[in-house]
Parts: sequence; structure tokens; C-alpha cells
Amino acid sequence: MNTQPIGIFDSGIGGTSIFKEIHAFLPNENSIYLADSKHAPYGNKSKQEILALSIKNTEYLLSKNCKLIVVACNTATTNAISYLRSTYDVPFIGIEPAIKPAALNTQTKTIGILATKGTLASDLFHKTTDLYSNGIEVIEQIGEGIVTLIEEGKVSSNEMKALLIEYLQPMINANIDYLVLGCTHYSYLMPLLLDILPKHVKIIDSGLAVAKQIKEILDQNQLENSISKTPENLFYTNTNTIVLNDILDGKFKVELLDF
Ligand code: DGL
Repeated sequence: MNTQPIGIFDSGIGGTSIFKEIHAFLPNENSIYLADSKHAPYGNKSKQEILALSIKNTEYLLSKNCKLIVVACNTATTNAISYLRSTYDVPFIGIEPAIKPAALNTQTKTIGILATKGTLASDLFHKTTDLYSNGIEVIEQIGEGIVTLIEEGKVSSNEMKALLIEYLQPMINANIDYLVLGCTHYSYLMPLLLDILPKHVKIIDSGLAVAKQIKEILDQNQLENSISKTPENLFYTNTNTIVLNDILDGKFKVELLDF
């Protein structure tokens, strides 16, 4: 039994989609969430910059005594998690585009992936794609501009809808039957995506799988918090608190922090 918090970081508010899954699945756990919105989007930065920001976030969370760190960002996971794992002495759980289930189940042999430039350019993404995409067409699309709009609180704006139609229409024309969401911010696009995509296209998002994996790692390392009490779930952002607070429906404590 361990009451130390789970640390979670993202380039901004997108990783809250992962936090929500974790909180639903592991309701006893305390947590600290860092939204590095001042430096969003990570997706257009170099690997070195993404690594430096991931180190900074990790060290802050470790200074707060976190027992496990969730890299709730595909871009940071695919560019930095192997370094973080080899450097720090806590378990790290990351999130990567779920190419495997899409590639294994596609009937049309064509799948789409929407992710950041940094994720699509990473070695880890290429390795996974090469492993599972034999005989399958994988249509990769950079979601340029999407993270910035979400960070501005414009999740369901007309601007967002136009951008998504531009990015998805070529995939629809190519007859995809799976769309893999390769960025934690994109989970918040679900209503628009359901509206734009033909009904038979399945959308793959990996939040719940991450929460299940965290439970397994906590169990294995005897780190689980089984005390039944009201957990403390803290959120820090380094820009303004309004958008983060809104995306959490005002249910959690959100503070401004200079990091
Ligand atoms: N949520 C991040 C991800 O999953 C967004 C990256 C960005 O800031 O560009 O990739």
C-alpha cells in the first residue's frame, strides 16, 4: 500500500483524457498532473527539445515524490521514454499510437493515423508501424494546428471542423476502416470525428489500455494505494487555468505554476 501520487505530464491539456481514464479505473490513487501548455505544441519541436522538456517535467514530478510517471503524450513517449526509463528509478508508462489493433483488424487493408509531426517522425513509431503494417496501407496525417486550437479552448469550433475535414477526407476517399488517434489531445475531438467519418470507420484511442497497464505495474511493484479515502488529484499549468479547468468540468483543483 503506497499513498505517493502518480505523476502525469503532457505538453498541455490533452493528457487529461488519460487522467480521466486513470481516475475512473484507479479511483483511490492520488495524482499530480503537469500541463506544460507554455511549451505546446511539442509536436513541432526537435527530438532534443522534446527530450529536454520531458526531463524537466519528470524531475518536477519526482521532486513531488511521485511513485510512477505517466507520459500522457504520444510525442514525448515516442521521443523520450527510453531515455527517461534508463535514467530515473521509477516506472514510466507511456502512450503510443495503437497501430497494432487497427492493422490486425482492418478489412479494407487501409488504416489512417492522425498524430503530431514529432510522433510520426519518431523511430519508435516507425518500428511499430513496420512490425504490423505488412500488406496494409497506413495513411499518415500530421494534425498540424489541432493541438493549438484545443489549447485555446476551440475544441468544437468551425475552424477545427474545417481542419479535420481537410485531414480526414483523403483517408475517407482511400476507404479506411480504422482511424488511430495518435495524440492525447485528439480524444476531445470524438464528437466531431463521429460526425465527419462514415459510420463504419472505427476510432482507436488508447486511454483505457494505459489505465489498465498502470494498474498492472502498480500491482507488480506493490505500489497500489488501496486505502479507501478521497484521493487528492492536483493539476498544474504554466499558462492560464481557465481552459484546463473547463476541460476538467471544474471538478478538480487547478493551479498556476511557473515551470
Ligand atoms: N498530447 C500530445 C501528444 O499526445 C500533443 C503533442 C503536442 O503538443 O504537439 O502527442
